[in-house]
Formats: sequence, structure tokens, C-alpha cells
Amino acid sequence: MTHPTSYPKSSQYAHDLSTIYAECSGPGGLQLTEFMAEKMVLRPNARLLDIGIERGYQTCFLAKEYGVQVIGLDPDDDRTDGLPHIEHLMRNARKWGVEDQVIGLKLGVPETHFAANTFDFVYSTTTLEMVRGFFGEVLYRQCLTEIYRILRPGGIFGLGEPMHLDVSIPADLAPIYTQGDGAGPEGWAKCFATVNETVAACRVSGFEIIEAGEAPDGWHWWDEFSRNDPHCKADPDGEAKVIQQDGGRWLTYGYVIARKPE
Ligand SMILES: C[S@@+](CC[C@H](N)C(=O)[O-])C[C@H]1O[C@@H](n2cnc3c(N)ncnc32)[C@H](O)[C@@H]1O
Repeated sequence: MTHPTSYPKSSQYAHDLSTIYAECSGPGGLQLTEFMAEKMVLRPNARLLDIGIERGYQTCFLAKEYGVQVIGLDPDDDRTDGLPHIEHLMRNARKWGVEDQVIGLKLGVPETHFAANTFDFVYSTTTLEMVRGFFGEVLYRQCLTEIYRILRPGGIFGLGEPMHLDVSIPADLAPIYTQGDGAGPEGWAKCFATVNETVAACRVSGFEIIEAGEAPDGWHWWDEFSRNDPHCKADPDGEAKVIQQDGGRWLTYGYVIARKPE
């Protein structure tokens, strides 16, 4: 499958998709992070908050390749070995040689407890849509409001999410996507929004939108995820099969780059 964008930084690691998809969790892995980081125009020594880090692989990539000082937030434990995600973050930070640039905190949005105007950048991928799915739109909006509060004026928010195209759910997939609220395909109708809906939610929280859209490689990332994520590989008739059945008819990957006004 071809994909149009080049990724000079993440391509150094692309030979090991098994590790990338085991240490991240969601479509895109390090390509997604590079795509977002370039759009956000990260600069060395800036203070960046990464919300929803899984094992912190993307967090370490941001520290290593963009020179940012990162705090990674995650309230949960790893579903494979039960260790806090932030412990995996620090293991990866040592492996990447960025332990002096990275701190992990076992906290989640919307209750971050940071002072207002703390960060130059906030990055979050494949996390807030799960908050919407599990806890509803009101809590999703509270997360955006909290991110706005802790960004400094002029600070940049990069939000990447699995989203859906602005079309009805295809008839063969509707019985699957509308079944429940979980993280799997059964909850996706509750989790995922369109780009326009996400832009509107960011605007209500006070953000100015710099750019938003569907990532050009979004379907490629979904496809790659379905072939390399360890949970997809362990259950080829589950999520992986649903993603292949969708084939990009409803699933996409959207992003919003937003600024807190000066
Ligand atoms: C699907 S993973 C995404 C990981 C990674 N950012 C990526 O794009 O592959 C979502 C992560 O968000 C974390 N998470 C869940 N609720 C959260 C919350 N309220 N605040 C911050 N992180 C949360 C989960 O523990 C998980 O590690």
C-alpha cells in the first residue's frame, strides 16, 4: 500500500513495527507523532505535556527527535503486565537516552492539578476519544477546557484522534459499532466524532484553530495497526477483521492544531 507523506525522523525506527505497535496503542505509531510534531512546530527545550502515553514510546520519540522537555500523563496500568504506564515510560526513556528530559505522572485529564499557563505545548493522540466513549461528551469537553487552562497564552495544542468520515455508518458495520461503550469496535460509534465536530468542541473551549483535517495517511495507519498491534495479531477475527471490513469507508484519523490566544 502506498502512502504520500515522508517521515524522515520516524523512518529510522520503521524497521521494527512490532515494537512500535507493542509500545504505542493505536493507529500511526511514530509516524503519527512525527506528523503531529511537524504540524505543531515543536522547538527544543519547550515544555510539552503528553496526555495518554501508553508505554511512552511516542513521548520518548518527541524528547529525542525534537529536544522537548516532556511530562507524560497516564492514570492507568498496562493491560499486559499490570505495571503503571509511567513505569514503562521511564524504562523507555532510559532505552532512548532521554531520562533527563522525561517525567511520568500517574494522573489523567481532566484533573491534572497543574497551574494555569504551565505548558508551551500539549500533545494527545488516541486518548480523548476514549474518554468520550467511556465517560461522555461532557467529560470530553472538560478535558479540552483543562488543556486550555494549563497551556500558556500562545501555546499550541495538537490533538490526534481516530475519527469517522462525515457519512452514515455502513449498514454492515452499524450493528458492530453501535453495540457498546468499550474501547473495542463495539464502542466506536460513541467514541469517534468527525473533524468538524472536534473543531467545534475546541472552539467552544476557547481555542483558535490553526489547522484541522483528516491525516492523509490515516487509513494506512489503521491498516498498519490492524496488522501489527499485538492484541489485533492475537485475535485476527476480532478488531483487526472489523478494521479490514471497514476499509476506510467510515474510519479515518483526524487532527486539530489549535492555539490558546495571546
Ligand atoms: C489508546 S492509548 C494511546 C497511546 C498513544 N498516545 C498512541 O497514540 O498510541 C490511550 C492511553 O490513554 C490513557 N488514558 C485513559 N484515560 C486517560 C485520561 N483520563 N487521561 C490521560 N490518559 C488516559 C490510557 O491508559 C492509554 O495509555
